[in-house]
Amino acid sequence: MNKTILCIGAGYVGGPTMAVIADKCPEYKVIVADINAARIAGWQSDRLPIYEPGLEEVVKRVRGRNLFFTTDIFGSIKEAGMIFVSVNTPTKTFGAGAGKAADLQFWEKTARDIIEYSEDDKIVIEKSTLPVRTAAAMQRILSSNTKGLKFEVVSNPEFMAEGTAVDDLQNPDRVLIGGMETPSGAAAIQRVVDIYLHWVPRERIKTTNLWSSELSKLAANAMLAQRVSSVNSLSALCEATDANISEVSAAMGLDSRIGGKFLKAGVGFGGSCFKKDILNLVYLCEFYGLPEVAAYWEQVVRINDYQQSRFVGKMVRQMFNTIADKRIAIFGFAFKADTGDTRESPAIHICRLLLAEHARLAIHDPQALANARIDLAGAEGVEYCSDPYEAARGAHAIAVLTDWREFRELDYRKIFDEMAQPAFIFDGRNLLDHAALYELGFNVYPLGRRALSHLE
Ligand SMILES: NC(=O)c1ccc[n+]([C@@H]2O[C@H](COP(=O)([O-])OP(=O)(O)OC[C@H]3O[C@@H](n4cnc5c(N)ncnc54)[C@H](O)[C@@H]3O)[C@@H](O)[C@H]2O)c1
Repeated sequence: MNKTILCIGAGYVGGPTMAVIADKCPEYKVIVADINAARIAGWQSDRLPIYEPGLEEVVKRVRGRNLFFTTDIFGSIKEAGMIFVSVNTPTKTFGAGAGKAADLQFWEKTARDIIEYSEDDKIVIEKSTLPVRTAAAMQRILSSNTKGLKFEVVSNPEFMAEGTAVDDLQNPDRVLIGGMETPSGAAAIQRVVDIYLHWVPRERIKTTNLWSSELSKLAANAMLAQRVSSVNSLSALCEATDANISEVSAAMGLDSRIGGKFLKAGVGFGGSCFKKDILNLVYLCEFYGLPEVAAYWEQVVRINDYQQSRFVGKMVRQMFNTIADKRIAIFGFAFKADTGDTRESPAIHICRLLLAEHARLAIHDPQALANARIDLAGAEGVEYCSDPYEAARGAHAIAVLTDWREFRELDYRKIFDEMAQPAFIFDGRNLLDHAALYELGFNVYPLGRRALSHLE
């Protein structure tokens, strides 16, 4: 049996997923290929192209042993018996479905590469998040080969979260593998199951039909995002009524049917997946003639946008209805802690809204400054500070936008003394010790909780 695995796409999913497979399955040769030569060079270097706790250790252990990074996609296709496809599937920006549907051009390109360069039968595994029934299109394209080759398509969506990718991959809640309900489909599913069985208990490996597997990934992301938007919508009501969202979340979460995770109010969800996957779900519902279902899920994205503009509206209102020419220190630009990823980060939208009010921004983030520079390229009045104290020096306000633990450890007395007065903190992640900050003299505006202000 061919024990070479190829993954096409060396991104946030392809890199860590394959590093863990190579680590756990030493008898397999794992190749990760990408058209982006700079990314591949990064994976081959001491400075990996993405930051994930624990990733460097795993990569260093297996790279050159049974994990290889390459730009030679065609040679790798020939060599591999199983091909994971983990290319990006962003929201379409043009043509029919623009703004909602998934853009499958990168996906289709890999299918065509696979038929062109394959010389024997292969299992093709969807790792990317895809609209339900994409495998049917994939199967049709692959079956159009004129070489008499047989390709079996399997869906194996990835549920890891950035920031905890390595741990999620090493100890997944579940692994989902969907395939055709035919004998060859079942055999292909088993080949993928056999890989995961190296470290995942059998009861956590769920096998389903192809369409359930594809849809489960979209559904899981939609449900997670919906939880965030639900809590955030309640945080607005808490601020209007002096209820405390942290207390409300804790009380709700104690109900075992609800559960306590993912009930934290904040400036909204970000990341490359939630918004794109919900919009994709909305598009699919519209496509299948289910406008009420589409409208229900679309509201999750609307509340997310609302939470961000609401946060900025509060800043402007509390800072005497103008922030023009005021320096605002932005603490955190990544969409969440422990990642340098800023894709769809709430910070992007919030910073743009603040700049539209003519504020001056001093942005600090422990991992995401390089990406922040790209996201806000061309914007005037933005400084990027590797030191949080420098960002806060002379600032009228601090806005906490990412829940980096190190923000809790800063010397806020020193920060307060160097800020313009009155000094404001808008804690968009309810991360800091608000009572202590208030004692130091700050006017503190948490999310979904009563403000602690010396001005009222
Ligand atoms: N990022 C996450 O947390 C996460 C989690 C679960 C699922 N997903 C899904 O996984 C997929 C990949 O996401 P990602 O975050 O790794 O994306 P990414 O943009 O980081 O990586 C995708 C890579 O694919 C490469 N690529 C594109 N077309 C190619 C081609 N024809 N041949 C070779 N390489 C090609 C790109 O150069 C890029 O490096 C998406 O569908 C996403 O929705 C992402």
